[in-house]
Amino acid sequence: MASDNTKMSTQEYFALEDKYGCHNYAPLPVVLCRGKGVFLWDIEGKRYYDFQSGYSAVNQGHCHPRIVAALQKQAEILTLTSRAFYTDKLGVYEKMMTELFGFDRMLPMNTGVEGGESAVKFARKWGYKVKKIPEGAVKVLFAEGNFWGRTLAAVSSSSDPTCYEGYGPYTPGFKLIPYNDIPALEKELQDPNVAAYMMEPIQGEAGTIIPDKGYLKKVRELCSKYNVLWIADEVQTGLGRTGKLLAVDHEGVKPDIVILGKALSGGMMPVSCILSSNEVMDVITPGTHGSTYGGNPLACVVATESIKVLLEEKMVENAAKLGEVFHRELNGLSKSKVTAVRCRGLMAAIDIEDSISAYDVCLRLRDAGILAKPTHGQTIRLAPPLVITEDQIKECVNIIATVLKSFKKDGIPPTRSG
Ligand SMILES: Cc1ncc(COP(=O)(O)O)c(C=O)c1O
Repeated sequence: MASDNTKMSTQEYFALEDKYGCHNYAPLPVVLCRGKGVFLWDIEGKRYYDFQSGYSAVNQGHCHPRIVAALQKQAEILTLTSRAFYTDKLGVYEKMMTELFGFDRMLPMNTGVEGGESAVKFARKWGYKVKKIPEGAVKVLFAEGNFWGRTLAAVSSSSDPTCYEGYGPYTPGFKLIPYNDIPALEKELQDPNVAAYMMEPIQGEAGTIIPDKGYLKKVRELCSKYNVLWIADEVQTGLGRTGKLLAVDHEGVKPDIVILGKALSGGMMPVSCILSSNEVMDVITPGTHGSTYGGNPLACVVATESIKVLLEEKMVENAAKLGEVFHRELNGLSKSKVTAVRCRGLMAAIDIEDSISAYDVCLRLRDAGILAKPTHGQTIRLAPPLVITEDQIKECVNIIATVLKSFKKDGIPPTRSG
């Protein structure tokens, strides 16, 4: 094995991760070493369009110069104090976030799943303290097909066996209901022990599942009627991805708790938060919840700059405008190979005909200069950074069309899943 890692080959990098890493992912075979805007480069110098964007964490494009500059500057001043003390950055960041999103207060955390955990904890406590649910009886509803991370609570609320199998016993007090099904939701909300309904306004990992128009409005209405908190997990859909700042903005409704993560740092570091009302935030008192890195000055500065870049460089508007172009172009793909197209802003997915392996499509896309990954067998998610241009979108859909054409009519038998 070469000791100078600049001289290692692609195969040697594969072998390193294979031998020394836990096999909890099956990466597409490509070794990346550089990113800029919509592009990624592998160690052999080949350039790719990034249609995965770190699962929508890199909305602002790779290594955005303003975010990099903010990170570098703050890294030399102060990075971490813990919340044992005040800093000159946290309050400024919290004020900006609450004013922008129209909430009373926010809680800073790190990963998306920690945001989800926090929301569920706050909702449970609110259930006891405010809704007066008997001790130990609180229930939280989740939508089937949800994905909000990998902690025990997250997998306990999952309907996907690959997420939950083998990790029991599971967190009690959770109930799954069908997504996009108002009668099923209303039936469960009538239970007085239900404190919250947590859901994604568009389900990402499930394959960009967009609920019917009016669903979010109705969720708002019913949660208010039955005094249940509506928790919107906007970790993936938020921050411009769908062509609005938040996906719930498409229906002009406001959840009781919003969870943000991923693009909150423009792909620089794990930064998440939850936003809510005084009533919900007040159930938490000093010492009852926290995080060593949550709200650290480096994260505050990076998140503040990431939001400013998103707004000042009109990336949300770009996602809305190019989302229409993207949708139209994707709809033009061969109907015999693509069985469904779902797209809202720059959050899209295509379903590939059964006889063609979606994983093989992604391999050929890689060879043709586009990086994307399949989810749930036959679905390929397509989510470029929001800085992509109209010409680039059209070029990429042409590449996808050419790749699909390269599969014979009866396709190639699936070889493996990703
Ligand atoms: C909707 C949603 N919520 C939460 C998460 C978890 O985020 P993280 O991986 O940062 O914990 C994800 C990750 O893909 C997600 O898509």
